[in-house]
Amino acid sequence: MGKRENGDNSGIGDTSREDERESDLREDERESDLLESDLTRRGFLGGTGAALVVAGAPTLGTAEISTATAVAQVADVPRTTIRVTVNGSRERVEVEDRWTLNELLRDSLGLMGSKIGCNRGECGACTVLVDGEPVYSCSTLAVWADGQEIVTVEGLERDGDVSVLQQAFMDHNAPQCGFCTPGQLMTATALLDRNPRPTNMEVREALVGNLCRCSNYNAIVEAVLAAAGTSGSGGAA
Ligand code: FES
Ligand code: FES
Repeated sequence: MGKRENGDNSGIGDTSREDERESDLREDERESDLLESDLTRRGFLGGTGAALVVAGAPTLGTAEISTATAVAQVADVPRTTIRVTVNGSRERVEVEDRWTLNELLRDSLGLMGSKIGCNRGECGACTVLVDGEPVYSCSTLAVWADGQEIVTVEGLERDGDVSVLQQAFMDHNAPQCGFCTPGQLMTATALLDRNPRPTNMEVREALVGNLCRCSNYNAIVEAVLAAAGTSGSGGAA
């Protein structure tokens, strides 16, 4: 029994070895396939990589060319030397012809009083006086101011004292966030220079181009009227 069993077992053993050999062959075939597949994939990736490098090369070249072109263009920007009087101080400044007056004042002369709200001539936050007239400095080229007199909100003080109008703004809480205040002050200053005793309606009409996002219009009008000494004059309060 034991022998037969051994013989039987021996037969089973032969079958198992054949199975093992077949299994080994299949394993070798799989490895071969994998190796081939891997080589093929590497070849593909290598080729793709080369293609990508080739495809990327013109793009990188274009970017480099664009940067060089931009630098050259900045260097080639037309410039003009202008003479302006700013808050009583004579200035001779070289400006790029594309600069706005606001860029000249804030970025070149360091006068940060005039603000940029909309940057497109709608809000009045950037208002300064050019030869006594209120203008939107965001929408005025610096070269246009050549030979002219500019007053910014920094120029309203005298010997360290705020102007009567500035004091009235403080007394009547006209500034809330304060962002519109420099523009409001400059427009109101121009109004009081040409019309020292305006009515309520005249103040409102003059300030129509100066928006206040805090909507503090009544206090602003009251401040201007107080500075003019015409508080209580006609029109809606
Ligand atoms: S920032 Fe100039 S009008 Fe608004
Ligand atoms: S006080 Fe805030 S925008 Fe006029």
